[in-house]
Amino acid sequence: MSAVPEPGLTRDVVLETVDVCKSYQLEGVVVNALCGVDLRIYRGEMVSIMGPSGSGKSTLMHIVGLLDTPTSGRVLLDGEDVSQMTQNQLAALRNKHIGFVFQAFNLLPRTTAQANVELPLVYGGVAGAERARRAIEALERVGLGNRTGHFPSQLSGGQQQRVAIARALVNRPSIVLADEPTGNLDSKSGVEVMAILQDLNAQGITVVLVTHDDRIARHAERIVHILDGRIRSEEIVAERVLAAEELRTMPPQEVAG
Ligand SMILES: Nc1ncnc2c1ncn2[C@@H]1O[C@H](COP(=O)(O)OP(=O)(O)O)[C@@H](O)[C@H]1O
Ligand SMILES: [Mg+2]
Repeated sequence: MSAVPEPGLTRDVVLETVDVCKSYQLEGVVVNALCGVDLRIYRGEMVSIMGPSGSGKSTLMHIVGLLDTPTSGRVLLDGEDVSQMTQNQLAALRNKHIGFVFQAFNLLPRTTAQANVELPLVYGGVAGAERARRAIEALERVGLGNRTGHFPSQLSGGQQQRVAIARALVNRPSIVLADEPTGNLDSKSGVEVMAILQDLNAQGITVVLVTHDDRIARHAERIVHILDGRIRSEEIVAERVLAAEELRTMPPQEVAG
């Protein structure tokens, strides 16, 4: 495992945690989910946060995504300390900067793909026609321009996750945080989702990928290894896995319609 070279002064940090700890109280017992975490996420990079189940990955993602606040330590977005902000201020920052993708897709079941994607814009007060235009554009970006009227139950798992990615993109975030985005998918659908995330990264979006899967983690250019709530090491990925290449070389019987 190679050491990470000291980043040059020109590398622009978009998200940073400084000495972040997070503990939960559960039936009188204190669980230290994160401890002393110093993490830097650089603008435009694709980075994996990798560790086994229970190591604190989701907790860390919720904290860098401003969905949750640390017990101690600071979180900086674009160099600005968000620790003292109100819930409303955090929500506004989140909507502007960050898109989330979760393992379980979290789509509304009795709602079309397009309406699911429009939802963040409804909360943002965007008018109907503009909402529709942007939702369709986001669905086209993930290759689902022909599925706008489908309900989640009429879509495969991979397609549902792509709807969730479109929903994450509709506010035009500069950062996408994806927590085990391939965890509920077959291998081909997982590779398709990775291809979309790599494509978004190539278009300038910062991508943070949370995974327990070494092969998935290697789609990023850098891996941060976490164990028992602490960052243990960092690694520059020597031979990055390219999802578009994997799709090209997958045996035909695995390539479903
Ligand atoms: N809301 C919570 N209440 C109590 N303990 C929690 C809560 N969320 C997470 N934990 C604990 O914190 C640790 C890290 O959890 P998590 O961040 O979900 O790990 P990972 O995503 O790597 O599987 C685990 O021990 C988990 O049980
Ligand atoms: Mg998790």
